[in-house]
Amino acid sequence: MQRVPSVNAKRFVRKMRGSAQAHLLECDDGSFYVVKFSNNPQGGRRVLDNEFVSSLLMKRLGIHTPEIAVVNLGRDFLKANPEVRLSQGSNQTVMPEIGPHFGSQHVGGAVPATVFDFLPSAMLWEVVNRGDFLGVMAFDKWVSNADGRQAVFYRAQINTEMPGYPRVGWVAQFIDNGLAFQGRDWTFYDSPVQGIYMRRIIYGRRLSLRDFEPWVSAVMQIGQDVLDGIFKLLPPAWVEGQEHELQRVLNQLYDRRERVPELLAETVKCIQAMPAQSVPFVPRRSPKVTRLCSDKLPHTKNSVVARCST
Ligand SMILES: Nc1ncnc2c1ncn2[C@@H]1O[C@H](COP(=O)(O)OP(=O)(O)OP(=O)(O)O)[C@@H](O)[C@H]1O
Ligand SMILES: [Mg+2]
Repeated sequence: MQRVPSVNAKRFVRKMRGSAQAHLLECDDGSFYVVKFSNNPQGGRRVLDNEFVSSLLMKRLGIHTPEIAVVNLGRDFLKANPEVRLSQGSNQTVMPEIGPHFGSQHVGGAVPATVFDFLPSAMLWEVVNRGDFLGVMAFDKWVSNADGRQAVFYRAQINTEMPGYPRVGWVAQFIDNGLAFQGRDWTFYDSPVQGIYMRRIIYGRRLSLRDFEPWVSAVMQIGQDVLDGIFKLLPPAWVEGQEHELQRVLNQLYDRRERVPELLAETVKCIQAMPAQSVPFVPRRSPKVTRLCSDKLPHTKNSVVARCST
């Protein structure tokens, strides 16, 4: 199991949008993290547990997701950075707790402006790791993510052994798993419409259950030992007093692996039943992109090694 670094917050950069009221902080490892605090209004410590567990599982499945860290906030940092506060009600603010919080490494590094929450449809078709959208759907069904699927996009150099890939392209990194396990409820609720990316054209016109096979088999390979390993890596402060409940969630997660194909089948049916005009997109293809994007999504877990290009 990969180690999760523990870093110290050094400098406030800016507040991020979203109901967890994350803040972008520079840390003492030289990296920038989007930090969710343990007393966030979205679901407190459980949101941090959900993010942490999801991120490590997604990495294990081969889905592109940002590096993570446990970000420690010290008394001195909070004193020196009075902007780091959570809003509560109309005019009230509350300080984050001193201690460990969840950090998702900002994929734009020191240049956050190079990262986008949305891409126009024509550009979505040029995302080199489009296949990950299938992987992340399998993942979202598995963990019962109550939130719409979210990704951020950036331009990157693509280093891959696989033929036909462009040297520079758009890469999607999947973020925001705070509402896995139905958020603060820590339960599973299966709805066919849950876990679909809002821009459905990303799935192409001929989505079939067979496209998910590599991802389903990756899920099936995650054993109880992996889940136990992740549990042990969690900062104790995030789990204290709810160890049994989290263990129960992870046990259920293990048992649910077998249901993933059936859950995906319902969602695929839902997507297929969408009116034709919902998937109207005929991709604008440059010659390079033609070689990259067949009508079928690339569902191999391509080894895109990417870094931001400025
Ligand atoms: N690792 C990252 N790299 C770049 N940007 C990020 C990263 N993580 C989060 N963001 C940005 O920060 C915003 C807030 O993050 P996130 O969506 O996880 O928070 P949230 O409060 O849970 O949102 P929501 O209200 O959608 O549940 C995102 O919309 C995205 O723009
Ligand atoms: Mg979000």
